[in-house]
Formats: sequence, C-alpha cells, structure tokens
Amino acid sequence: MGAIHRRDFLVRSGMVLGAAVLAAEVPLSKAFGNSPPLKLDSWQEVRAQFQLSRDFIHLAGFFLASHPTPVRAAIERYRRGLEVDPIGYWFEQEEKQEAAVLRAAADYLAVDPTEIALTDSTTMGLGLLYGGLTLRGGQEILTTLHDHYSTEMSLRLCAERTGATIRRIPLYDSLKHVSRLELLDNLIRNIRPNTRIVAVTWVHSSTGLKLPIQEMAQAIHKLNESRAEQDRVIFCVDAVHALGVEDFRLSDVGCDFLVAGTHKWMFGPRGTGLVWGHQRAWSVVNAVIPTFNTQAYDAWMGLSPPKDLPKSVYMTPGGFHSFEHRWALDEAFNFHRAIGKARVTQRIYELNQQMKEGLAKMPHVTLHTPMSQDLSAGIVCFEVAGMAPHQVIEQLRNRKIIGSVTPYATQYARVAPSLLTSSQEIEQALEEILKLGV
Ligand SMILES: Cc1ncc(COP(=O)(O)O)c(C=O)c1O
Repeated sequence: MGAIHRRDFLVRSGMVLGAAVLAAEVPLSKAFGNSPPLKLDSWQEVRAQFQLSRDFIHLAGFFLASHPTPVRAAIERYRRGLEVDPIGYWFEQEEKQEAAVLRAAADYLAVDPTEIALTDSTTMGLGLLYGGLTLRGGQEILTTLHDHYSTEMSLRLCAERTGATIRRIPLYDSLKHVSRLELLDNLIRNIRPNTRIVAVTWVHSSTGLKLPIQEMAQAIHKLNESRAEQDRVIFCVDAVHALGVEDFRLSDVGCDFLVAGTHKWMFGPRGTGLVWGHQRAWSVVNAVIPTFNTQAYDAWMGLSPPKDLPKSVYMTPGGFHSFEHRWALDEAFNFHRAIGKARVTQRIYELNQQMKEGLAKMPHVTLHTPMSQDLSAGIVCFEVAGMAPHQVIEQLRNRKIIGSVTPYATQYARVAPSLLTSSQEIEQALEEILKLGV
C-alpha cells in the first residue's frame, strides 16, 4: 500500500489501522499468484482457454462472453483479495488496476488512456453518452432505422428529457443490393445544417450488415470543415460487434465517440465496457453519474484543490462495482493482442465466409447478411422457408448447435462463427441447417 493509498485509506474510511495490518505489505494479488504463460499458436489452443461446453457448437458466443483462462484467473485472484479484506484490498488495488485496464484498452485501440471512460456495458455507455448530451435549441440527432434497442432507447430518453429532435433514416433499400456507396450516400445527404449528432451502429446485430464507418467519418470531417465548432457534426458509433472482430486502430477510424461492451467479442469480464471519445468531442457531453476518481473525490473532500481532469474521468461512473471483473479487463485486451488482431479478424472472416457460402447454396434458406466481407463481419442472419426464426434456433439447439434470434421487430435466425468455433463445426452446423429443409 503506497503512501497516498494509505493516507486515503485512513482519511476516507475513517479507520485507524492496526500496526499488524499496515505491516502486511505483501500485495494479495502476488500472494495468490499469476496466470501461466499462454500458448495461442493454434486455434485449438485458443479454444482450450475457454470452459465452454464441448457438447455444443457455440454460434452465439458474442451474446455474452465466456471468460478465457487469463481473464478467469485474474477475476478469481481479485475476488479472493476482496473476500479476505474488501477495504484494504480495494485501496491497495483500485487505482493501479484501473490504470492498467485503461492502459491495455488504449494500447489495443491505439489511443490515449485519458480518452477512455469505463462502463459496465454497451448500454450503459450509450445511456451515459446520449443521456449526457448538451444540445443547443434547434439542433437535431440523426440516427437510423437499423440500430439496437439500446441506442434507440437512449436517444428516445434523451429526447423526452430535453426536447431534442431525433430523425431516423433508412441507410439502404434492400440488403440484397446494398453497397458501401449507398450506405455512405444515404447517411451524408441526410445530414442537415442543424444536425449535431449522428448515431449509428458499426455492425448491425439485426442483419450482420457492416457500415463503412471510416468513409462515413471522413465524409463527416469534410463536412465539418465549413462548420463552426459549436455546429460540428459529432459522429457516434456503437461498435460492440466490431470491437474484437475488426482489425482497426481507433485513431484511424475518425469517429468522435465509440461505445462498446467488452463482454462480447473481446471476451472481457461480464459487466464491462467502455466509451472512447476524441479530445475534440468530449465537451458535448456531461456526466450523469458521479465519478469515484480519487482526485475528484479528494477535491470534494477539500483535501486538494479542484483539478481540471479529462472528461473521460468524469464519464466513468462511480459507486462501487464488481471490481474483480472490472480489474480483470486488461487481460482480455492482452489476450486478443497475444493472438494478434489481424489473425483474429482473418479467422472470423474465413469462418463467416464459409457459413455464408454454405447457406447461400441451400434452396430453403434465405441469407440476409451480405456475402462481401466489406459489408459484413462476424454475424450471419438467415431464414429457413416454412419455419419461424425461433423454431430454427430451437431445432438447432436440439441438435447441439447454439444460435440466437435477432431481438428486433423483424426477426431472423442468427449465427456467429468466431474464435470459439472451428471450420469443421461450421460444416457440421451447415449439415444440420440443410436437414431442416427436408
Ligand atoms: C448492436 C448492439 N448494441 C448494444 C447491445 C447491448 O450490449 P450490452 O449488453 O453490452 O449492453 C447489443 C446486444 O446486446 C447489440 O447487439
């Protein structure tokens, strides 16, 4: 326990520690040991890191992560520390673990740690971002008909509270003929002089469609060149099905805000997520939940003068969390980097291509997700003639294949080939889907 921590411990907790406790300087994390080195050369070795049942083919892995070994081990380590001495362990670990998580996330995304706020989910991030927007009278929010419940409801709640105007547009006519140009065109020509916020989803969980986010961001940059600072279009992206799938450096993407849960494709601890905001963009949003950042809290207690901290710090909600999960998030970013970002993307693309090509050949199947990798990522949506989507998914589950139904007004059967599945398993799944037509 460092000097600052010890002082905080004494001041904030109002506790006087016994000499015996202060003498026990061995960090509990060390006492419980660290994870063994990882071997991730083959996909079998990657799969072996998960305790997912071998009785099933897991094609809904993105729904909620199963934790790989290093994440599981870290959670267990922190859990034990918190069980033994919640307050002591918290003061010992909180600042350094949160810093480690921010560092790992920032390294993975190729951005600065001060630009990242930590959340508990995509939904919390979207709620904080859209709920905290400061819009001037007459400014509008532009969004699409293809976004998830969490985006749509966060925006709706914002509108109900502030009176903000929301315009929802379709980005394409038909998935069969959709192109990147059409998607780009439809978004950009719908931006009006009073459009302040553009809210989209990188990879749609309703259809598997992937938007040309980088081109959209570039076009918005161009448009912003002739706008005053207070009128600039702020481009916000729900990237939960891109993070841990697409190989990108966030600094190259060009959006203003990126929101994602890290408990899906990233394999982070369940109940974790982040909001990244470009430095130029943070001023458009205000925190709605008080941060527990030490410096902010110390200033409130009068222990130090108020500091001008990065907005991301205020946007990280305080209150206590399931810290054993939050602190273990760095392991998920490190896990992905240990496999290799490009390798992850390549593998997910290959398996999804295999799935789409197989489905496209089946006369009783309508594939809705575009075949092109430019327009899709890790999600494949389809229908089987004569069967409701939930029947398809039920039948597949009976055959030990786990998919899901898209939770939208229009429902499709949905499968997501990922690092948790092999090419042979995709073949097996295709064989079973073929039999559904018989
Ligand atoms: C596009 C999209 N955004 C947001 C969410 C919500 O994610 P979370 O569970 O991390 O809040 C989901 C799925 O659950 C999703 O598909």
